[in-house]
Amino acid sequence: MSSSKNLSETIERVLSDESDVRDATAPFQAEFPYERDEEAQVTRREFCNFLGLTSAALFVGAAGFATKAALDARESEALSAARIDGAATLAPNSSLNFNYPTERDSAILVRTADGAYHAYGQKCTHLSCPVYYSRDHQRLECPCHEGAFDVATGDVLYGPPPRALDAIEVEVRDGQVWAMGRNASAPRVGG
Ligand code: FES
Repeated sequence: MSSSKNLSETIERVLSDESDVRDATAPFQAEFPYERDEEAQVTRREFCNFLGLTSAALFVGAAGFATKAALDARESEALSAARIDGAATLAPNSSLNFNYPTERDSAILVRTADGAYHAYGQKCTHLSCPVYYSRDHQRLECPCHEGAFDVATGDVLYGPPPRALDAIEVEVRDGQVWAMGRNASAPRVGG
């Protein structure tokens, strides 16, 4: 319980610098170690159980996705536009943090080397560690369990995150950059 509270506080600090994010998330990694090798060891019985449950899950999942899509669409419509301070002067291949759609929602804006803007919710879709922009690798990275995301699409490049980052729509108007809405991503298929 205290761990999730600490994590929330970490994210609310609005971190974008790689070293700050790594320092802040180190205690979280220690408390929630993640071993990819262990995850891969699935027993035969577990696999059969999985197959038995798949049919029912597909049916329930389809209904769930439809409901979720409707809710996401409604959420996106309900969000108001917000100017992102400092974005207009952001240098290419760099990032800044902002809050959207509320002051409690940490987000990250990246201006890629070609000058394009891309924004995402800062919570990693694995266990909610804050992601940061790696200028060296030109991608969004999660320090907790080595997940990485494509900066142009938010898609998972590698690591344990189950789905892309939640995208924030951005628009440039009269030289200012605005957040226009948020789209929750769908779960990763086959990955
Ligand atoms: S929280 Fe685990 S990879 Fe991001």
